[in-house]
Amino acid sequence: STGATAIADDRRRRRVLFFPLPYQGHINPMFQLAGVLHSRGFAITVFHTHFNAPDASFHPDYHFVLVSGDVMSPTPADSPDTVQATVEHILAVNRSCEAPFRHLLAVLLARRLWLPVPEQEEEEEDDVACLVADAHLLTLLDVARELGVPTMALRTGSAACFRFFTAFPLLCDKGYLPAHESSSELDAAVVELPPYRVGDLPSARSAAAHVQMGEVISRAVTAVATSTGLILNTFDALEASELASLRRDRDLAGVQVFDVGPLHKLSPATSSSLLHPDRSCLDWLDAQPQRSVLYVSFGSLASMSSSDVEETAWGIAGSSVRFLWVLRPGIVSGAGAPPPLPDVLDAAVAGGRGVVVRWAPQEEVLAHAAVGAFWTHCGWNSTVEAVCAGVPMLCTPCFGDQMGNARYVVDVWRNGLMLAGGEVERGKVADAIAAVMGEGGEEVRRRAMELKSSAAESIGEAGSSSIMVDKLVSHIQSL
Ligand code: UDX
Repeated sequence: STGATAIADDRRRRRVLFFPLPYQGHINPMFQLAGVLHSRGFAITVFHTHFNAPDASFHPDYHFVLVSGDVMSPTPADSPDTVQATVEHILAVNRSCEAPFRHLLAVLLARRLWLPVPEQEEEEEDDVACLVADAHLLTLLDVARELGVPTMALRTGSAACFRFFTAFPLLCDKGYLPAHESSSELDAAVVELPPYRVGDLPSARSAAAHVQMGEVISRAVTAVATSTGLILNTFDALEASELASLRRDRDLAGVQVFDVGPLHKLSPATSSSLLHPDRSCLDWLDAQPQRSVLYVSFGSLASMSSSDVEETAWGIAGSSVRFLWVLRPGIVSGAGAPPPLPDVLDAAVAGGRGVVVRWAPQEEVLAHAAVGAFWTHCGWNSTVEAVCAGVPMLCTPCFGDQMGNARYVVDVWRNGLMLAGGEVERGKVADAIAAVMGEGGEEVRRRAMELKSSAAESIGEAGSSSIMVDKLVSHIQSL
C-alpha cells in the first residue's frame, strides 16, 4: 500500500511509542493498534507498568520499557471493578508513573536506546514520531510533550462514550448527574445525548466520587484536546453521527479523529491476553451444531456477587441450551476463586452440554460457527468483537461505559436484547436465553449479520477504516 511504500523509501525508520492503561480492555486495542502500525513499517516501543505487564515474548520485534511506578500488586485479580475504584486507580497510575516515565523517556531520547530490536541496522536513523497513550494517561502525555514528543490519544471506548465525556459538564449543569436512584429518573431520556437514558450514564455512588469521576473525565478530554489526534476503535457505519459530532466539537478543534476500528480485524493476530486462554474449548465447539452454543463472558473487570453467579448458573442450566461460560478467577469481588457451582450445572457439564473455562480465546470463540449468541457485560471490545462476528448479544451491563454500549446494542443497532431489568434471576435468565437463541430471535440475528457485513466492508479495500489507517499513517509520518 502507499503508506508502506512511503516508509520503505524513507531512510529514517520512525518509531511510535505506546503507553496503554494497564487493564485488559485497554491493553488489547493498544496492542492491536501497535500491530497495525508495525505492519506499516513503524518501529514500536511499549511502556508499561509492572501491574498487568504485557508478555514481551509474544512481541519479539517490540521494545518494552518497564515504568516502575507501581501502586498495586501485579495480579489481574486486583483490578478495580467499580467506577470509583477505577477512577482512583487511574489517578494513582498517572501520579506514580510521572517521575519514572519522565526519567526513562529523557534517557531514551538522548541516547536513542531502542535496543534490543533485532532487525535494526546501525546506520538507520530511528527517530521518535510520537507517543500514543491511553486518553486516561494525561500526565504522561504532558510529560512527552514537555520533552518535545508529539502525542496522540487512544480512547478504547465508543465514539458515543467520548461524546458523553465532552458533554459531562453540560449534563451536570442540566441536573442529569449525579443521577438519583429512583427508577423513573433513571429511565428519563438524556435529551442532549440520544439515545442515552439517565441510567445509561456512568454514575458514582457518593458526592466525593462524583467529583473524582468528573476529574478523570475532564482529564481525558484535555488529553485528547491537547494531542494531535484521537484514535477510536470504531467505524463510520457503526457510529457515523457520533463521529461527525466529535469532528464538529469546538473544544476538539485541531484534533484529527481517526476511526480505525475494528482494530482486532485490521491487526495481525497477536496475543496481549493477561490470562492464559483455555484453547480446549475450541475443540469442544468443533463438535457442536451450528449456532447452538451460548457464549457467556463478562470481560476482565466486571465482578458479580456470589448469588449472581449462582443465579447465572441456574439460569443457564434451566435454559437447556449448550453453553461455554467464562468464569474468571476474580469474578466474585474480593474472592480469589469463583464460588462452587450448583450441582445442576455440574451435571450439565458432565453430560457434555456445556463447558466452563477460566479464560477463553474470545475472538476465536465468537468467530466459531457453533456460537449462536453472546451473553456479555457489553465492554466496548466485546461489543465490537460481537459485531464483527455477527453474533447477537444478550446484555447485562455492569458499570462505566457498559450501560451506554448496551443501549446502542438494544435500541440503535438492534443486534441484541437486554436481560429483563438487568436483573440476574434464574427464571429471567432462562427466558432471555430462549428469546435471543430461539425463534423470537430472528430479528436480532438478522441485524447482527448486517452489522457483520458493514464491519467487513469498513476494513475492505476502499472501506472507511482502511482509508483512515492510511490517513493515520500519513499523519504520524508528518509529525
Ligand atoms: C473494560 C471496560 O469494562 C469496558 O467497558 C471498556 O470499554 C474497556 O475496559 P473489559 O471489562 O475488560 O474492559 O471488557 P472488554 O472491553 O470487553 O474487553 C475484554 C477483552 O478481553 C476483550 O478483548 C475480549 O476478547 C478479551 N477476553 C475476554 C478474552 O480474551 N477472553 C475471555 O475469556 C474474556
